[in-house]
Amino acid sequence: MENLFDIKGKVIVVTGSTGVLAGAAAQYLAKEGANVVFLGRREEKLREAVSLAKEAGSDAMYCVCDVLDKAALEKANEEILAHYGKIDVLINGAGGNMPGATVPPDKTVFDIDFSQWQAVMNLNLGGTILPILVFGKAFEHQKKGVIINFSSMSSTQALTRVMGYGNAKAGVDNLTRWLAVEFAKKFGCGIRVNALAPGFFISEQNRALLTNPDGSYTARGNDVIKKTPFGKFGVARDIFGTIHFLASDASEFLTGAIIPVDGGFSCYTGV
Ligand SMILES: NC(=O)c1ccc[n+]([C@@H]2O[C@H](COP(=O)([O-])OP(=O)(O)OC[C@H]3O[C@@H](n4cnc5c(N)ncnc54)[C@H](O)[C@@H]3O)[C@@H](O)[C@H]2O)c1
Repeated sequence: MENLFDIKGKVIVVTGSTGVLAGAAAQYLAKEGANVVFLGRREEKLREAVSLAKEAGSDAMYCVCDVLDKAALEKANEEILAHYGKIDVLINGAGGNMPGATVPPDKTVFDIDFSQWQAVMNLNLGGTILPILVFGKAFEHQKKGVIINFSSMSSTQALTRVMGYGNAKAGVDNLTRWLAVEFAKKFGCGIRVNALAPGFFISEQNRALLTNPDGSYTARGNDVIKKTPFGKFGVARDIFGTIHFLASDASEFLTGAIIPVDGGFSCYTGV
C-alpha cells in the first residue's frame, strides 16, 4: 500500500538548520530518510549537524550561506543540484529578533530603532523570499516542490513588545498565501507553499524573557502559559509531525495554509 508520508530520498534544503526548531526538525527528517541540506553561516556547526545526520543514514550535505546573500544562495543551489540533481523541499527556518525592534514595558513605540526594525524585517521576510527566489527555480523546472515557511503567534495578533518581528511574520503569512496562488496559477498544482506558526517554544533568544535562572517562569512566561490551554511551552519535537506532513505527499492538496502548532494559544481568548 502507498505510504503518503514516505520522505525517503527527498532532498530537503533547510535554512536556519542549526537553530533550535529548524535544526531539530532537520535531524528528524534525516532520520526519516530524507537527504537534508544544512544551510547556515557557521561552518563548524554545519559540519557537526551533517555528521549527525549521516550517522542516521542521510546523504546529507551543507552549504555555508547567509539567507540575505543572493550570490551565496546561488552557489549553494549549484552545489545542491550538482550533487542530487533536484530539490524537493525548501524549509525557511532562518529568522529572529533584535532588541531595537522591540518595545519593552518602560518604553514606547517612539523609542524603536528604525535600522534594527528594518534588519528584523529583512531577516524574517527578506530571508524567506530570497531563498525561495533562488531554490524555487528548481521547482519551476521540475513543476514540483514544497516550500515551508515559519510564521509566529505574533503575526495575526498584537503580541506586546515584539513589534518588528510581528510585522515581519505578518509579511511571511501574506507571502505564503500570495506565493501559493502564484505558483499554482503559473506552474500548476505540483508546487505548494505553506507555513507553520509555532506557539511558544523556549529558545536561546527568548529563554531569559520566559524563564528565570532557576527554571521558574517570569511574569511574561506565566502570561503565556495562562493563554495556552495546554499550559506548557512547546518542545522542538512538537513541530516534527507538522513539518513531515507538509513535506510529504500526504499534504498534496494543501497550499497557502498557516498551521498553528501552539498548544491552543491562537484559538483561546485567555478568558
Ligand atoms: N522558538 C520559538 O518560540 C519560535 C516561535 C515562533 C516562530 N519561530 C520561528 O521559527 C524559526 C526557527 O526558530 P528557532 O527557535 O529555531 O530560532 P533559532 O534562533 O534557534 O534559529 C534561527 C537560526 O537562523 C539563523 N540565522 C539568523 N540569521 C541568519 C542569516 N542572515 N542567514 C542565515 N541564517 C541565519 C541563526 O543562526 C539560527 O541558527 C524562526 O523563523 C523563528 O522566528 C520560533
